[in-house]
Amino acid sequence: MRIAIIGSGYVGLTAGVGFAHFGNSVVCADIDPAKIEKLARGICPIYELGLEDLLKENLSKGRIRFTTDIKDAVKDAEAVFFAVNTPEGEYGKANLTYLLNAAKTVAPLCATGTLFINKSTAPVGTIEKIRETISKARGDDQFYVATNPEFLKEGTAVEDFLHPDRIVVGVDHPEAEQRLRALYRPLIEDGVPFIATNIATAELTKYAANSMLALRISFINEIADFCELVGADVKQVAHAIGLDKRIGSHFLRAGIGYGGSCFGKDVKALALSGEEHGYEFKIIKALSTVNDLRYRIVITKLQKHLKNLHGARIAVLGLAFKPMTDDVRSAPALRIIHELLDHGARITAYDPVANEPFKKMFSRSGEVTFVTSLHDAARGADALLLLTAWDEFQAMSLKEIRSITTGVLIVDGMNMLERNAAEAAGFTYEGIGR
Ligand code: UDX
Repeated sequence: MRIAIIGSGYVGLTAGVGFAHFGNSVVCADIDPAKIEKLARGICPIYELGLEDLLKENLSKGRIRFTTDIKDAVKDAEAVFFAVNTPEGEYGKANLTYLLNAAKTVAPLCATGTLFINKSTAPVGTIEKIRETISKARGDDQFYVATNPEFLKEGTAVEDFLHPDRIVVGVDHPEAEQRLRALYRPLIEDGVPFIATNIATAELTKYAANSMLALRISFINEIADFCELVGADVKQVAHAIGLDKRIGSHFLRAGIGYGGSCFGKDVKALALSGEEHGYEFKIIKALSTVNDLRYRIVITKLQKHLKNLHGARIAVLGLAFKPMTDDVRSAPALRIIHELLDHGARITAYDPVANEPFKKMFSRSGEVTFVTSLHDAARGADALLLLTAWDEFQAMSLKEIRSITTGVLIVDGMNMLERNAAEAAGFTYEGIGR
């Protein structure tokens, strides 16, 4: 099938490369000429395992191309995917400006009978807005709409696209469903469940999934705080409850709270979407509140041991919001380093891949010393503060690191080290909830 994808970010690019890999003819568009130029040469602008290789392979087979010219992108398309960002707007509502602008721009350029599919995360009711926008811009109703939420995770985006747990589509016409089934045929044949629902159901599914995952994290974080008061170990609690098949073990890792471009924004957007429909989400609102306060826990732990943070040299290990990505959007490190600087701490920061993105995003980068190795960060530090669960940190030789630090404190915001090993190397260890 001939497909156009509007927006070549995480979701658009991965989907574009994935659909090309299935044998479709894909054109990816974006307004950023520098990004398009790189992609056309097979250079992936984001750090995403396996994506560049798959991109190169499909470029060489002529199944995917990139353009900034929207008209060129959609002129032959039978299906047009919208994968532009829907950032947090006023009061936490999803900002649909980019999405609706994209719909308005492409609508008159497409052939009769085109299927327009939304892949951007957007609240219930968005497809109706897209339909109205397209209808007005074209002056007809000779097109189809659908929603197809994307559940991929950063760091494993390619794997998640090629081997998803399920495919969800929201449709209101058999032709739309048929075309989406055709697009996903290789996965359906592999046994991946294909769930076709009405449009509102599919739109809500994305928010419900992200909120459920975020809920589990906030839940285990509250359990972790209580563990500290009663002498329990949250890792063992999580392991034990996770073995109950009704609960399962995923997303029960206690720590400094969730970050990234999705959870915070989607949880808030769902609560607001509820209010717009006269419904108050009590649990959803609470889980956001729990997460927004997580940054305090590591500050309190540093203060407990170092007393005054003023002048203290803290080695921050990890800046990305999670390992295997250089994404720092809503990373806990942003808030935590900001607080530490306010307390007068001197920060030396190291991330295996996210130093540069962090420098760009953080408003006080000039006050932080960024280094390019774990050892450079640790040397002379009064405390090590682990904020991202990179394998490199888990595998570090604690004895060797202790020989170059000034102080003995490790605050492990991701619970990735073992207390015994840290103490055997001469450190004082503070985890979360244990
Ligand atoms: C998430 C959803 O998982 C994905 O389906 C959706 O499409 C986009 O949002 P992503 O933001 O890439 O994906 O990251 P994810 O792996 O879900 O982690 C989100 C955050 O939760 C990270 O900050 C991570 O460190 C944190 N987390 C995760 C925990 O604190 N504890 C856990 O047990 C799991």
